[in-house]
Amino acid sequence: MNNDSRENFGSKIGAVLAAAGSAVGLGNIWRFPIETGQNGGAAFIIVYIGCVLLLGIPIMMSEFIIGRHTHTNTAGAYRKLAPGTSWKWVGRLGVLSGFVILSYYSVVAGWTAEYTALAITNYFDGKGANDFPAIFAKFVSNPWLSVSLMLAFMIVTHVIVIRGVKSGIEKFSKVMMPALFVILIILAICSVMLPGASQGLEFLLKPDFSKITGSTVLSAMGQAFFSLSLGLGCLCTYASYFGNDTNIGKTALNVSIIDTFVAVMSGFIIFPAVFNAGYTLSSEDIGPSLLFITMPNVFQQAFGSMPVLSYVVSVLFYFLLVVAALTSTISMHEVVTAYVSEEFTMTRRKAATIVTIACSTVGVFCALSFGPLDGFKLFGMTLFDLFDYVSSNIFLPVGGMFIALFVGWYLDKKMVRDEVTNNGTLRAPYLRLIVFILRYVAPIAIGFILINQLGLVKLF
Ligand code: TRP
Repeated sequence: MNNDSRENFGSKIGAVLAAAGSAVGLGNIWRFPIETGQNGGAAFIIVYIGCVLLLGIPIMMSEFIIGRHTHTNTAGAYRKLAPGTSWKWVGRLGVLSGFVILSYYSVVAGWTAEYTALAITNYFDGKGANDFPAIFAKFVSNPWLSVSLMLAFMIVTHVIVIRGVKSGIEKFSKVMMPALFVILIILAICSVMLPGASQGLEFLLKPDFSKITGSTVLSAMGQAFFSLSLGLGCLCTYASYFGNDTNIGKTALNVSIIDTFVAVMSGFIIFPAVFNAGYTLSSEDIGPSLLFITMPNVFQQAFGSMPVLSYVVSVLFYFLLVVAALTSTISMHEVVTAYVSEEFTMTRRKAATIVTIACSTVGVFCALSFGPLDGFKLFGMTLFDLFDYVSSNIFLPVGGMFIALFVGWYLDKKMVRDEVTNNGTLRAPYLRLIVFILRYVAPIAIGFILINQLGLVKLF
């Protein structure tokens, strides 16, 4: 496929919403509240926002620069900018990470679809705190159900991806992202008005700086990477569809603001309701089971006197998760599809089909990790846990570090300036600072996360 026949996003707002759709996902509504709960509330949020500003925005801009300049998939982009060097492996690592994350992410995405169905059929009605752990355990260990839901999610993703960049990804994001904002705000208002909500609000708004330790900072950095979709070439691939008039700095700022807003609003939905229902911050209540064990019960209890409200809130909440997850799975699928289609010269439809079949096959094993394959362990982890661990703790930070080094040190400074200023038509007084961060701050900071996460050295 040559560049002339390559599609672009139709509008700037479409490009922002598609990139924001990639960023906003289970990472915001699931992982962020868990991290906040376990790392001290408001103090964690402040550190998190610091990480977004200091590392997130510069690395996001780097991905945009690489993608928009080359107008090609993430592996092709490095080959074009650094022919004959090993930099192409950064792009390839991104494609591999996209493949791995998509395979296990679709499993959880499938659960959100199941819980939406359960909420719609009013299945949670009359159930209590003791019922939800068993409902979840029974559901995830049912091989047929988990696998079918994962496949269903993958197929919906596939259908949107094959429709193309403009009439598939952009159109879907333009409809669904505003819907997501509306649902988010309705839910936050409902939650904040609950009796006892003040305890949750205090937790979110009153920072206790004594809670900040080295490991809080590391968790915040890791979370910022995952939540902003950085390090894998997702945003690089999307930027390859940006028009030449897209303002790279402004788009990165907007996407980061939207993503952070959704994460913080999720905190405003979850914590007041969780405290209202009498939960504590023990790791079981605010752990991985948060969305599927704690929250269904929270809705029953919090709005117990108004069953209609508890019904509506549960349906909206799980639907919100489905939409958020879907715009993210689309973006990961696109990274791999663009790669296969452009590097192996085949139609988008054929490439997407290969990707869907391959990811679904791996996804089956991830889905079965909670049932028949729960005894199958590699390095002491089930396949699902291993994929999650390796991709978010190793692949993403390594990818992010090399992206920063590539733009900070390897790329021609004039080219970087031309991309950021749209060939001199925009002012970018912040560029020097961004380059400084990319050269020194980001690689050193990420190096610390990596060393610590791998347990090579216990820094904190
Ligand atoms: N950012 C998404 C979330 O918060 C997940 C995601 C999509 C992602 N694309 C990515 C994470 C690329 C890392 C890299 O759920």
